[in-house]
Amino acid sequence: MGKKIILTGDRPTGRLHIGHYVGSLRRRVELQDSGKFDEIYIMIADAQALTDNAEHPDKVRKNIIEVALDYLSAGLDPNKVTLFIQSQVPELTELSFYYMNLVTVSRLQRNPTVKSEIQMRNFETSIPVGFFTYPISQAADITAFDATTVPVGEDQEPMIEQTREIVRKFNSVYGDTLVEPEILLPETKAAMRLPGTDGKAKMSKSLGNCIYLSDDEETIRTKVMSMFTDPNHLRVQDPGEVEGNTVFTYLDAFCKDEYFAEFLPDYSNLDELKAHYKRGGLGDVKVKKFLNKVILEQLTPIRARRSDYEQRIPEVVDILHQGSIVAEKKAAGTLDRVKAAMMINYFDTDDIVAEAMEKYAK
Ligand code: TRP
Repeated sequence: MGKKIILTGDRPTGRLHIGHYVGSLRRRVELQDSGKFDEIYIMIADAQALTDNAEHPDKVRKNIIEVALDYLSAGLDPNKVTLFIQSQVPELTELSFYYMNLVTVSRLQRNPTVKSEIQMRNFETSIPVGFFTYPISQAADITAFDATTVPVGEDQEPMIEQTREIVRKFNSVYGDTLVEPEILLPETKAAMRLPGTDGKAKMSKSLGNCIYLSDDEETIRTKVMSMFTDPNHLRVQDPGEVEGNTVFTYLDAFCKDEYFAEFLPDYSNLDELKAHYKRGGLGDVKVKKFLNKVILEQLTPIRARRSDYEQRIPEVVDILHQGSIVAEKKAAGTLDRVKAAMMINYFDTDDIVAEAMEKYAK
């Protein structure tokens, strides 16, 4: 105990986009390199993805490799982190089953993430039971690894809160067994939730407003140049708004001062650029060209690593396979502790024999 352990993950329902990058991947790489954590587990949550994709197992399967490639290309290092696939750790399902006894239907119904996802997917009362209970399975994911720290976006906050409740309940009923995790949110507001290129609140594949980590240079340029800005900023000389202006939100998330010297030496930092835009006299095209360079600067090394890994697929699969073995070992240790606490570890010791013999001793 006393170890600092990270667990986090993503559903494999599509390639990862730059929203994932600024919101979580970039941070994970920093955490990996910080040397502050004893163990780091990054999970491809295929079982969770199936809770609302039961009819599309092919989609989930195909995206396992896509997400793994995105992880590796973003800089996650399999020598420092354990990359694994959720479904290959059956202990997680077993833990979920026991945690289900500690959570009420009304508590799940109040979970804001579940609530909003039910609305988004038009599930209403036809919601699959597995989907409804995924906060419980997420608690299993987190506690199985004794995670102290869960780096996720703010949309996952209710999940971590629900996990903490389950931990407290479990520990109070069965004795101190599980570790209560802390959420680690992204540092900046822009990174919390990057809007789509069209200015809509969320990047989503179905809206076609994402820039993917695997997009090529030309695709990125086209997407950036057609981005939503301030709709009232019609002529260059007009004053413009930077609040709610997607181009500036992206700059907030991606820009570093040093990029100005390199790509836009008329300004020394983002505040100066914003001030000029607000004053009037700065055109969208110029800002977009700058943003394009900034994004390319960060994505080019990622894309290069990706195309390298794309040519080493057997190795990528092996990383997931070996990682899943390591993860299962860890989860099995927790499950042993859980079963002992719940007194369902009948064959670990001879206690059950002694107890019953005492009862029936003549
Ligand atoms: N719910 C997360 C998502 O939608 C994925 C996930 C599953 C997860 N289990 C987790 C994240 C445990 C953090 C911890 O992306």
